[in-house]
Amino acid sequence: MIATLLYAFSLAIDVIMAEQRERTFIMVKPDGVQRGLVGTIINRFEQKGFKLVALKFTWPSEELLQKHYSDLSSRPFFPGLVKYMSSGPVVPMVWEGLNAVKTGRQMLGATNPADSLPGTIRGDLCIEVGRNIVHGSDSVESANKEIALWFTEKEVIGWTPANEKWVYE
Ligand code: RTP
Ligand code: MG
Repeated sequence: MIATLLYAFSLAIDVIMAEQRERTFIMVKPDGVQRGLVGTIINRFEQKGFKLVALKFTWPSEELLQKHYSDLSSRPFFPGLVKYMSSGPVVPMVWEGLNAVKTGRQMLGATNPADSLPGTIRGDLCIEVGRNIVHGSDSVESANKEIALWFTEKEVIGWTPANEKWVYE
């Protein structure tokens, strides 16, 4: 009985999360790490009010990156993209919050930094599309796929920040 109630409760939480507090997958790319921008990028998401629920420092294999960018496998820049992304360590993260996927993309700015507005991460911190320092999921569906690709379930931590009441009304 208690187990059933707990299960129903966790489903209800999942529904609320799906509608409101969604999760997005953000990753500092090798150039962002090499240029010492990890802290700056984390800071943008922290200062916005999003909640960090997973983070690691890892040197990804080409195989993992081919899966991560599988939607782009037929594009001419794909081999160069995989080589660039596997050229050094990266910092994959999961951030949670209201409209985190869409807002996260807006915070990153346009794919090509030449078109990214000032005030966005790419607009402020990089110049070329092939060195655009950070990745962000483009939909809730991609976010869920990417989170499952880079993190185990145990590595994504549910917690309540002390300031939550001051971020959401
Ligand atoms: P990301 O997935 O890395 O967040 O970037 P995005 O959604 O803004 O853009 P997407 O179309 O998914 O492209 C993935 C990454 O591939 C590189 N790219 N190079 N040379 C080119 O024309 C070109 N186009 C894309 C970029 O590093 C881009 O972020
Ligand atoms: Mg993309």
